[in-house]
Amino acid sequence: ASRGAVPAAVAPTGAAEPMPGARLTVVYGSQTGNAKRVAERLAAQGEAAGLAVRLLRADAYPLRELKDERALCLVISTQGDGDPPDDARGFVEFLSGKRAPELKQLRYAVLGLGDSSYPQFCAAGRKLDERLAELGATRLLARADADLDIDSVAAPWLEQALAKAKEALKPAAPLATVTPLRPLPAAPAHGREAPFAAELLLNQRITGRGSAKDIRHIELSLEGSGLHYEPGDALGVWPANPPALVQAVLEALRLDGGAMVEHGGEALPLRQWLGEKRELTRLARPFVARHAAHARSDELNRLLAPDRQADLARLLGEAQVLDLLLRHPAAWSAEELVAALRPLTPRLYSIASSRKHVGDEAHLTVAHLEYVNAHGRRWGAASHLLAASAEGARLRVYVEPNERFRLPADGGRDVIMIGPGTGVAPFRGFVQERAAVGARGRNWLLFGNPHFRTDFLYQVEWQQALKDGRLHRLDLAFSRDQAHKVYVQDRLRDRGRELFDWLEDGAHLYVCGDAARMAKDVHAALREIVAAHGGKSAEDAEGYLNALQQQGRYARDVY
Ligand code: 2AM
Repeated sequence: ASRGAVPAAVAPTGAAEPMPGARLTVVYGSQTGNAKRVAERLAAQGEAAGLAVRLLRADAYPLRELKDERALCLVISTQGDGDPPDDARGFVEFLSGKRAPELKQLRYAVLGLGDSSYPQFCAAGRKLDERLAELGATRLLARADADLDIDSVAAPWLEQALAKAKEALKPAAPLATVTPLRPLPAAPAHGREAPFAAELLLNQRITGRGSAKDIRHIELSLEGSGLHYEPGDALGVWPANPPALVQAVLEALRLDGGAMVEHGGEALPLRQWLGEKRELTRLARPFVARHAAHARSDELNRLLAPDRQADLARLLGEAQVLDLLLRHPAAWSAEELVAALRPLTPRLYSIASSRKHVGDEAHLTVAHLEYVNAHGRRWGAASHLLAASAEGARLRVYVEPNERFRLPADGGRDVIMIGPGTGVAPFRGFVQERAAVGARGRNWLLFGNPHFRTDFLYQVEWQQALKDGRLHRLDLAFSRDQAHKVYVQDRLRDRGRELFDWLEDGAHLYVCGDAARMAKDVHAALREIVAAHGGKSAEDAEGYLNALQQQGRYARDVY
């Protein structure tokens, strides 16, 4: 065999026998970039420790190599309902299926990422971990599940995983000539941990008077930041909790906001911990459990029982930290509170502009979350910060790339964009970009919201784009303008024939917006359309959509 047949990563020059598989493979499935970031760190640390490492996104993993893989670390996040991220769907399906190989040779470790305010916390990681064991593989170490404060779980797991992988690969060939990982492009000066203080240029309500929704068009300046983005990318925004909410929490617990609290080597006044460093607007199971103990509440303890998952999920979805404190009074010390609350994390917003059109700016379409419940006014942390900010204010931001949500490289391809509600955001950027580069393919937008009169986001822009030939089709679903609900998927069905023809002609399809219901229902409608107009069984239609997804022609940005 030619030398080319030997994996370069394990072909030390002059060694007697290259050891196939004497390397650590790190695979990640990532929706918002967190799993990717952790996997990159693991790979870099592995290399620094002298291991041969290859780092792959799950959809780039050559599945037929799995049966020869020796050491595999998987970092995978979980979406809303316990699903894997889109880039790991193929990987998970392959492993779950009947064609999955026996994996007796494999040593592996799984790190799950998730959000404990969802009942299916880290389910994708758990299922993979269990399935790999079922297929005969051996764990290098136990799976860990990381919550939004990823590092507290990820950092120790990485260290152990690395130590175990080194041990497992020990009798391997000398590791002198490892293939370096793809050199990372020069890291931008600003990122998640070093955000850019972007000036707010415009904050404009774009829902009309009388709308149930307060949706803002936000323009931020990126001038001087060195930040770049492509249409489809997200902007990470660091939130802060509203001062009124912090005050209410202090009062509910009768704690002094000025008291200095030390945690993790940092000493700050409690008020600052709660305002800038801790989640108050999202409730999660671990805090409910701690609070149940503090409050000695039978009711809360019962809610944590395995058979009450649905009730707990309802509570986590409906209540914030303050609501729990008010409904079940209990004493907390400032130190305990800071330790028990999760660290505040950035929120991702799909960018609604193209730099080729707007220059050094990033535009966002933000639904301002604000409501009154039985105890008082409640907010979403980031959306309220944005909505309450005036021109000239500074917001801490960075770019979170979304490589799976990209316009076709070939501008001649048609694109179909399904974006109800604020899901329309990235498509404003897409249409701007396609016009700026002179793409010749057609652009079809499907948009939906409750009412035409008050909720037609960017109405003037879309109508102008239709006139100018920058937009070729616009289908609207105003759900509450008639007696029965009309949704984007109903419009899709009405236009099923055309939709299928566009797909057959090579169109790229995009869905952005609500993950829990909309994206699922749209997917089902797509399956029906492909079945009806392509003369396929439901199963073959699903296969058709899977193939589109594999080819990068059916992409979702859903939340
Ligand atoms: P509704 O609120 O009137 O039910 C953006 O939020 C739009 O998406 C609204 O018009 C909303 O309608 C609609 N919507 C709600 N559930 C949906 C679903 N399952 N599929 C598609 N659109 C949905």
